[in-house]
Amino acid sequence: MTRCSETTQRIDAATGGTRLRRLRQHDWTRRLVRETEVTVNDLIWPIFVREGSGADEPVAAMPGVFRLSLARCVDAAREARDLGIPVIALFPFTDPALRDEGGTEAVNDANLVCRTTRAIKEAVPEVGILCDVALDPYTSHGHDGIMRGHRIDNDASVEMLCRQAIVQAKAGCDIIGPSDMMDGRVACIRAALDAEGFSDTLIMSYAAKYASAFYGPFREAVGSGSMLRGDKRTYQMDYGNGAEALREAEQDIAEGADMIMVKPGMPYLDIVAKLAQNFAMPTFAYQTSGEYSMIMAAAANGWLDGDRAMMESLAAFKRAGAAGVLSYFSPRVARRLRGA
Ligand code: PBG
Repeated sequence: MTRCSETTQRIDAATGGTRLRRLRQHDWTRRLVRETEVTVNDLIWPIFVREGSGADEPVAAMPGVFRLSLARCVDAAREARDLGIPVIALFPFTDPALRDEGGTEAVNDANLVCRTTRAIKEAVPEVGILCDVALDPYTSHGHDGIMRGHRIDNDASVEMLCRQAIVQAKAGCDIIGPSDMMDGRVACIRAALDAEGFSDTLIMSYAAKYASAFYGPFREAVGSGSMLRGDKRTYQMDYGNGAEALREAEQDIAEGADMIMVKPGMPYLDIVAKLAQNFAMPTFAYQTSGEYSMIMAAAANGWLDGDRAMMESLAAFKRAGAAGVLSYFSPRVARRLRGA
């Protein structure tokens, strides 16, 4: 007892009587003082679309994620609307026969992404659509830009990316998401959109996108992994760098980005926090395919509680300062938030 009271005195002397655990006593106190919370309005749901009809095709490395036919994408958009998810992001699995050195299918206004965008806008106009701008689903070498020998030609790539953004905007895309990491592409895409009368089309730039191993399962999903010649380190960022992310974001904002994004997400929360604190810009994070797969794999093994890890991971993005998160968990999170 004396020991205890001596301890108590020592603690009170050290803390001035402050007991931080007081606020953690009850569910209601915890809810009352909670600083950040995930809501359905924070979610962007990435979806993989494929040609043809029929059953959803599982992505082996991403349990619970499928490549959907166009009609099933429309169903997914309805589901997003019914759940209250504001935006879906479309990623195509392009027929290998349509992939070439120059990525020309990217600028075909009847390509899979454009057809799917039109169909969704027709059936479910209240859901926002984000389309990725980059050539990798369309090139035979798997790179996001155009190759000249072993190099990626920045300016020739940007010209194609502008044309890609235009066909997507014409199809009804609401948010253009340049994920290619070419220099100057936001300025050129903004100018191209405005010149075609799409001054209301938003740009969410992948401002700080790192050359990362966490994209592996995504590349399986869109079929670009086995095609990729070399790696993307001459355009995506070096993961040793943090200050450089500030320069990338500053540049994209000056060029006209409406929103900025960091990718990958969970291992890069320091970058999310840095950008959110430094710029008064809506800052998003992409919880990438590899991050999704890690949680799913551990949960499948019974090594962690998948649902709880999912919710905690989303909360971490909000705490770091993200306005929202692109996550393959989006529909599951939305259902969970509804208590379903
Ligand atoms: C394409 C693109 C990639 C991702 C989104 N857009 C892959 C890459 O850059 O190689 C990754 C998404 C994910 O891993 O979930 N430029």
